[in-house]
Amino acid sequence: MGEFSKGLEGVIAAETEMSFIDGQKGVLEYVGIPIGELATHSTFEETVFLLWNRRLPTSSELESFKGELRKRYALPSGLARRIPEIPTTAQPMHMLRTLISEMSLYDTHPNDNDPEQARRKAMNILGQAPTIVAQFDRCRRGLPVVEPDPSLGFSANFLYMLNGEKPTDAMTRAFDICMITHADHGLNNSTFTARVVISTLSDVYSALTAAVGSLRGPLHGGANEGVMKMLNEIPSVADAEAYVLGKLERKEKIMGFGHRVYKAKDPRAKELMALAKQLADDTGNTDLYEKSHAIERVMEREVAAKGIYPNVDFYSATTYHCIGLKLDLFTPMFALSRIGGWAGHVIEQLSDNRLFRPGAKYVGPHDQPYVPIAQR
Ligand SMILES: CC(C)(COP(=O)(O)OP(=O)(O)OC[C@H]1O[C@@H](n2cnc3c(N)ncnc32)[C@H](O)[C@@H]1OP(=O)(O)O)[C@@H](O)C(=O)NCCC(=O)NCCS
Repeated sequence: MGEFSKGLEGVIAAETEMSFIDGQKGVLEYVGIPIGELATHSTFEETVFLLWNRRLPTSSELESFKGELRKRYALPSGLARRIPEIPTTAQPMHMLRTLISEMSLYDTHPNDNDPEQARRKAMNILGQAPTIVAQFDRCRRGLPVVEPDPSLGFSANFLYMLNGEKPTDAMTRAFDICMITHADHGLNNSTFTARVVISTLSDVYSALTAAVGSLRGPLHGGANEGVMKMLNEIPSVADAEAYVLGKLERKEKIMGFGHRVYKAKDPRAKELMALAKQLADDTGNTDLYEKSHAIERVMEREVAAKGIYPNVDFYSATTYHCIGLKLDLFTPMFALSRIGGWAGHVIEQLSDNRLFRPGAKYVGPHDQPYVPIAQR
């Protein structure tokens, strides 16, 4: 047995060609391309192609990839009928986890993991998950569902289905940048979960269902909702410093800060900070951005020496708010993007699989007598 590492810190548990992270320098690359380059020049569809194929597409390959995805925006009728039956009080992450699981019921070969089949399932989930989230949100608001528009790209189509009107180019681009920056991130908890599940040669739906369950946690993807709640709790920019100092004093965590791998500013936070500022100015939410920036300044002064900096969730909260998304849709947005990464990792794991089965260090007693129940 090897060394025990609580939380598996420092353990290398898989090889990947998808993303590279240098936590000390604050570098993230997808297939060798810095995240800033992709956020500036790429689209979400192209980024997913890159992750799944480990190279950028030619223009005809990209067109055919987009065409394949757009064909899958619509839900099977059984799944579409389910959505209005879901209680309007259901939380979107629980709803999404359940319906990704249910997608397998409409697949006549749900257990088939050969590369083409796994890719087809991945494409189905990537195409249908936004429709599920948007239709559920419309139903719970008592609004008629908006069917997907296959003439629109991934981000524009999602915002259209959610709001019932075509988004502006600026909003579409902002959303697409969020999708690009959240798509993959090494062996994070939910990606590891997906790889662990598929390593039993289970199926793509089971792996991604489990991954959504992992992402929901407040220490992982759920942190973006925590950030927004914190921003709402702080009455004004002038109160940010006292708020942060009080939390640190009570040894409470500030959501959107700290990372197991990054000991420098998360490069995704850098991209999203610029985006959040621009959107906040454009949508009259400057105050929200200023509060975030004030928190970052206090945290930098107080805890940067411990390697605690803003992570991806910190400025994505302001960004999603400015795009007009409701608080409980923030983590589902992370999921819609990360489906690209999870699916890529599942396909990668299947291509060179070995069952994950770590050991546990037993710390209980030995040689105990069995005491009959009447004598306990
Ligand atoms: C991401 C996270 C879970 C990483 O956890 P980890 O690697 O296990 O690190 P720990 O929780 O053990 O923290 C190490 C130290 O930094 C401190 N720390 C870590 N994140 C902190 C935060 N957000 N605010 C204040 N202090 C923090 C811890 O209190 C601890 O201090 P100590 O050594 O004095 O006890 C953690 O930073 C966190 O909970 N952040 C807030 C949630 C969040 O934003 N998650 C999204 C991640 S992308």
